[in-house]
Amino acid sequence: MSSRDDKGGVARRNFLNLAVGGSAAAFAVAGTYPVVRYLEPPPGRARSASRVGKIEEFPVGSVRTVVVDDRPVHVIRTADEVRAFSAICTHLQCVVAYSAEHKQFECPCHGGVYALDGRNLEGPPPRPLEELTVTIDEGYVLVSASG
Ligand code: FES
Repeated sequence: MSSRDDKGGVARRNFLNLAVGGSAAAFAVAGTYPVVRYLEPPPGRARSASRVGKIEEFPVGSVRTVVVDDRPVHVIRTADEVRAFSAICTHLQCVVAYSAEHKQFECPCHGGVYALDGRNLEGPPPRPLEELTVTIDEGYVLVSASG
């Protein structure tokens, strides 16, 4: 093999290394991009906090249903905190109602029952109600819908 062939061989090897490396990088980006896009909130639907009322409108011991991003949400105020749970049943997405008599959430569709902390207690619901983030800002209750 002549030195001229060696130089050609090195050049080809460098080219192939670049091509393989570039392809690997392109595949990595192509594989990662859809995952990142899936995890990001869609434009215009970024997670934002909705002002659902003044704190005085949620007396201690109360459960109120409000609407956040067109979805019903139960806001619960205890002596210690304010919490919010999606009112959408985790079984087949019926709207669960608060039962003042039983102090729990009840699904009218298949008898699912949830505790006031969102835990699924009875019936077919496979998991707790989705909890939303609550913040109190300048006397207002803000609830952040999940994406
Ligand atoms: S949809 Fe709520 S229990 Fe089935």
